[in-house]
Amino acid sequence: MDADKHDLVLRDVDVTSAEDWDDPYPYLAQIRNQGPIVWCPDWDMWLTADYRTANALLRHPGSQRVFQDRSPQSDWASFNRLNSLSALDRSGSDHARLRKAMSPPFRKSTWMSIEAVVEAVVKELLDSMLLDPHTTRDLVPEFLEPLPVRVICSILNLSENNGKRLREASEQMVAAFEKCQTPNEAYLSQAGAREMEEILAAGLSRASSSTESIPLDFLMSQCPAHLSFEEAVASAALLFNGGTGAVINASSTGVVTILRDVTVRQALLSNDSIDLSTVVDEILRFDAPLQLFERLAVAPIMTATIRIPAGERIGLLLGGANHDPSVFVQPERFTMNRNPNPHLTFSAGTHFCLGASLARLEMKTALEHLLNRFPGISLSGEPVRHHGFVVRGYASIPVQLMG
Ligand code: HEM
Repeated sequence: MDADKHDLVLRDVDVTSAEDWDDPYPYLAQIRNQGPIVWCPDWDMWLTADYRTANALLRHPGSQRVFQDRSPQSDWASFNRLNSLSALDRSGSDHARLRKAMSPPFRKSTWMSIEAVVEAVVKELLDSMLLDPHTTRDLVPEFLEPLPVRVICSILNLSENNGKRLREASEQMVAAFEKCQTPNEAYLSQAGAREMEEILAAGLSRASSSTESIPLDFLMSQCPAHLSFEEAVASAALLFNGGTGAVINASSTGVVTILRDVTVRQALLSNDSIDLSTVVDEILRFDAPLQLFERLAVAPIMTATIRIPAGERIGLLLGGANHDPSVFVQPERFTMNRNPNPHLTFSAGTHFCLGASLARLEMKTALEHLLNRFPGISLSGEPVRHHGFVVRGYASIPVQLMG
């Protein structure tokens, strides 16, 4: 029997104010406490903050990402093209083909050179901060943001100038995935998508007519045998969007957590036996930079408790699942040596993040070198959060580098 939504309707949690939830975890716990899956009329979707249900739904073949074009098409054309043609919003053989086309930079054979690039960029950024270490610095624009932008530009062979333009455009574009946008924000998202499409299409066109080391060459070399030109542009945009925002936000959360918690900071500075990779995964679990992903039931789905009819939408609350006490002991506690730590921050199933290893590498290298170079680093003001529910992280982290 199909689920009776009336019996499972979400109570006592106002999701329409989610963007103002500075700390979403008490609300996510309230959602989870009402059952493995609840019906949310305000968002017109099923919601789960239950780990096992979210994990099963991410892997279920009947629950798929289905991008729905935004309208009017004339305003959202670039946004719709970039999303509907990317691997993230395709399924079956098209998804497999596009994922494979994006994979060359992440293969074992190229990994050592990526490690070298990450380390070099981290050192260069910290060196330039060392030139004037006694004034208050803002770690987000000066360190955490340029790091993944430069790394992805190096992977995609894009110029630094294009990287800066793409980063701004990307931030505007992905803001459209928040649950609520003002008309001005929507306008900026459309403009951001147009700008990204223009820059990347120009780069790919150059790639097709040149024999030098050129932007996006690994994608262009697969056109048209394995990718259409538009799919190559969408794949480049997905790599840029995926490779920047979430890494910046997750690293910013990590830095703030470490600088606020004296015990954690001291332990990291004085204890060589702490495995920084384990700490990075705890940062990713503790406050996921991307909190909500959606699926559509393309066929009826049986969960442990209900049958979701085909055609209904499902919201997976990844941060909520990562705080499920039946899987994570004392989930509200930042536990540096949490192991195992099967968080869902990088999703699960066919769309599992292609850049997870790169994200972990960037976060680990950034934290390691930051703390080694500036052991006396401390917050010199209140970090400023981004406003929003889906994307979590900090826009500004004022610090004093020397203690
Ligand atoms: C902390 C950083 C990151 C987080 C939290 C993150 C999170 C995610 C999540 C949750 C998904 C799947 C969404 C879904 O299932 O609906 C995803 C997919 C993806 N991510 Fe990431 N990501 C991060 C970094 C990166 C990086 C560094 C790259 C590449 C440079 C990247 C590239 C991708 C791509 C290409 C996909 C699509 C995979 C597919 O559809 O098969 N991500 N990411």
